[in-house]
Amino acid sequence: MLILSPSILAADFTKLGQQIQETAEAGAQYIHLDVMDGMFVPQISFGMPVIETIRKATDKIFDVHLMIEDPGRYIEAFASIGADIITVHAEACTHLDRVIQQIKAAGKKAGVALNPATPLSALDYVLPDLDMVLIMTVNPGFGGQKLIPYCLDKVRELRSRIRELGLSTDIEVDGGIKAANAAEVIRAGANVLVGGSAVFSGDVAANTRAFIQVFREFENE
Ligand code: DX5
Ligand code: ZN
Repeated sequence: MLILSPSILAADFTKLGQQIQETAEAGAQYIHLDVMDGMFVPQISFGMPVIETIRKATDKIFDVHLMIEDPGRYIEAFASIGADIITVHAEACTHLDRVIQQIKAAGKKAGVALNPATPLSALDYVLPDLDMVLIMTVNPGFGGQKLIPYCLDKVRELRSRIRELGLSTDIEVDGGIKAANAAEVIRAGANVLVGGSAVFSGDVAANTRAFIQVFREFENE
């Protein structure tokens, strides 16, 4: 199934509840929550209080992308405030296997994210344990950047590995994704698309529908 996960990093925070509602009504299935600690990435975004507050406003799936050092410290905390999928960066975990098991023990779906320069081999031994792999298509830290083309080669390679292993792991792409390049990333093998600026700049409902329209064309193929 093709899924749109709007990243609220690019939303108008004075109208957050309303904008989330608009994406949901227009067909977006997830909400992508970018947590940044000012260490793993330069920016500091938002944390538990914001997530906890919007949890009350929507029943959409919360796709929490932790761009924080040593995320194992906070898995139970994010699980308890309503995260559904928790994604940690391989580069930020000294004990990646342990953190994946922590996420699963908390009853949540486990994702691992890879920065553009991180090879897929970082996942060699843990792939069967994962619900989702997030292939960063920009260097994480900021919205509004341009997709790095070689990252789509990683998506293609990962999709074929997942097929070979007979798994059904989701592949999420994040960074520089727009309705205009959605078809290309889907063809490469991604099925969960994060949209930040492409969803929240301008008409949120129309932007969301533009993605959903691309999804429909694939589903009718
Ligand atoms: C970047 C974040 C993204 C960001 C994407 O580090 O992980 O989720 O919000 O923004 P766009 O879609 O504008 O590139
Ligand atoms: Zn993200």
